[in-house]
Amino acid sequence: MTTGKNGAKGAKGRGAPRAARVRVKSAKGRKLSSKLWLERQLNDPYVVEAKRLGYRSRAAFKLAEIDDKSKILKPGGRVVDLGAAPGGWVQVALQRVGAKGRVVGIDLQEIEPIPGSELLVGDFLDEDAPDRLRALLNGPADVVLSDMAASSSGHAPTDHLRIMGLAEAALEFALEVLAPGGAFVAKVLQGGSERALLETMRRNFTKVTHVKPPSSRKDSAELYVVATGFRGGDRD
Ligand SMILES: C[S@@+](CC[C@H](N)C(=O)[O-])C[C@H]1O[C@@H](n2cnc3c(N)ncnc32)[C@H](O)[C@@H]1O
Repeated sequence: MTTGKNGAKGAKGRGAPRAARVRVKSAKGRKLSSKLWLERQLNDPYVVEAKRLGYRSRAAFKLAEIDDKSKILKPGGRVVDLGAAPGGWVQVALQRVGAKGRVVGIDLQEIEPIPGSELLVGDFLDEDAPDRLRALLNGPADVVLSDMAASSSGHAPTDHLRIMGLAEAALEFALEVLAPGGAFVAKVLQGGSERALLETMRRNFTKVTHVKPPSSRKDSAELYVVATGFRGGDRD
């Protein structure tokens, strides 16, 4: 972890200093899975660092790392964040677009207000969600971000289909709201994006890459597709 612009942490470093491993005692009523989750949280340097820097989630580092590499968040930029709770990406986006920028987001879950951003509660897949977001944006977007993920069903093929459905919906929206030159980022699963999704992106953007940010857990199948240089016009 290294300090990137505006204090957010970037991708190029070697990780936070290692502290002594914390072990959680088994307590009556605490399931083994919760004990292991708690242990992982307490021993995760990104969780510790997110807390120290006031980020609402360790996910904040993923966006910082993606942006350090792809340079998509520019001062004055307009950003839409889909699946924004609890708000780590919103915080990083706000830092990087600055006071003249605009950050709007949506999530199924309520998000504690973050000054400088406009956050909606709702299902992005609802028919009226794109219009509600557009109304807040008040103009074309420079960046559409989607970290949306449905909670795991425990059945990998179902999870894959769900996450791809969310990424497709996010892309469809991005093609409608992005300004020429704009960028799109979405969470997908290992194996990369579905062929059709990738082809649509390649037709509509000048560069499409997959990124596994260093802060994304190694044992997680998540990956991000980053498309830059939106061509604009009607290519979908
Ligand atoms: C990994 S979390 C996002 C973390 C966030 N990027 C951050 O930095 O704090 C994924 C979020 O996607 C949201 N989500 C999943 N499906 C959604 C949908 N259809 N509409 C809106 N939000 C959705 C979930 O409620 C969850 O909060």
